[in-house]
Amino acid sequence: MENLLNIKDLSVSFKTDEGIVRAVDSVSLTINKGEVLGLVGESGCGKSVTSMSILRLVSSPPGSIDSGEITFDNKNLLSLPIEELRKIRGKSISMIFQEPMTALSPLHCIGNQLVETLQFHTNINTKKAWQVGEEWLHKTGISDPVKNMYAYPFQLSGGMCQRVMIAMALMLDPKLIIADEPTTALDVTIQAQVFDLMREMKKKDTSLLLITHNMGIIWEMCDRVAVMYASEIVEVGTVMGIFKKPLHPYTEALLNSIPLISVKRNKLESIPGQVPSPLNYPKGCRFQDRCKYTFDKCRREHPPLYNIGGNQARCFLAEDRNK
Ligand SMILES: Nc1ncnc2c1ncn2[C@@H]1O[C@H](COP(=O)(O)OP(=O)(O)OP(=O)(O)O)[C@@H](O)[C@H]1O
Ligand SMILES: [Mg+2]
Repeated sequence: MENLLNIKDLSVSFKTDEGIVRAVDSVSLTINKGEVLGLVGESGCGKSVTSMSILRLVSSPPGSIDSGEITFDNKNLLSLPIEELRKIRGKSISMIFQEPMTALSPLHCIGNQLVETLQFHTNINTKKAWQVGEEWLHKTGISDPVKNMYAYPFQLSGGMCQRVMIAMALMLDPKLIIADEPTTALDVTIQAQVFDLMREMKKKDTSLLLITHNMGIIWEMCDRVAVMYASEIVEVGTVMGIFKKPLHPYTEALLNSIPLISVKRNKLESIPGQVPSPLNYPKGCRFQDRCKYTFDKCRREHPPLYNIGGNQARCFLAEDRNK
């Protein structure tokens, strides 16, 4: 499979009054052409910061990308001149944020924003761009697109703004879509419609980095999944493999917290205990205080990511668990 995006050893931190927050710690991930990679993990584990680093959207200060390389189409995005990065943002790589208002301007009507984005990246004339905008509003399930092209974000519901942002992200036929909890604000029918659109994009070889708390969505949409815990990757593998035999106890706990009756509608239930503070991670394994398999070594040494049959897991017991 052809590699499209390669994140290598990415570390990101924030300076706060309490100290340095290590938000992302030596994260490496790859996404292949046409692949859907899921990124899952508890709130605060570093999913959004990882995804925002790809397009250098982490605000600095207080944030800083301390190390790493992010290669896309043979270019290192972290050292690319900003003008070149702007051409990639929204065109080759588009982003759907957790919060739609971060992507939409309150001052311009929806139609003008869609037209402006189309014209920034292509030579399309205004009339044609307006039509394309309308078509995409229709495709993302917005009622009365002709009228809503003239609406301002504040006149639309949160769910509708979310769909406008999705239209904006998909309409330029990107090579990679980064979607951060893209459908949380949408009702189930519209959610299904948005995922259908994404599946269609996948058929055209578009890759997707899909961040979600919902293991049901991972199961339905993704080819592979990366699990984050306390700023690190703790497991990466195929969705099938991970659901069948999770190698990291945290992944196992995540899967056990899905209510069995309806995988589709689950929300992650909490796992007992607390995530350690990113201001001060413990020596050894970061999951040690919540893990039912913890033994001496887990408190003494930080486990590396072990490669096991094509998957990776950061656990001393991973090999045994694979038997
Ligand atoms: N601007 C900021 N200033 C200080 N700390 C930050 C900032 N942005 C993020 N962080 C910290 O970085 C860590 C990772 O945050 P991130 O938003 O990536 O988590 P997440 O996995 O996306 O969580 P959620 O599932 O709630 O969206 C957290 O500890 C968070 O508090
Ligand atoms: Mg987030």
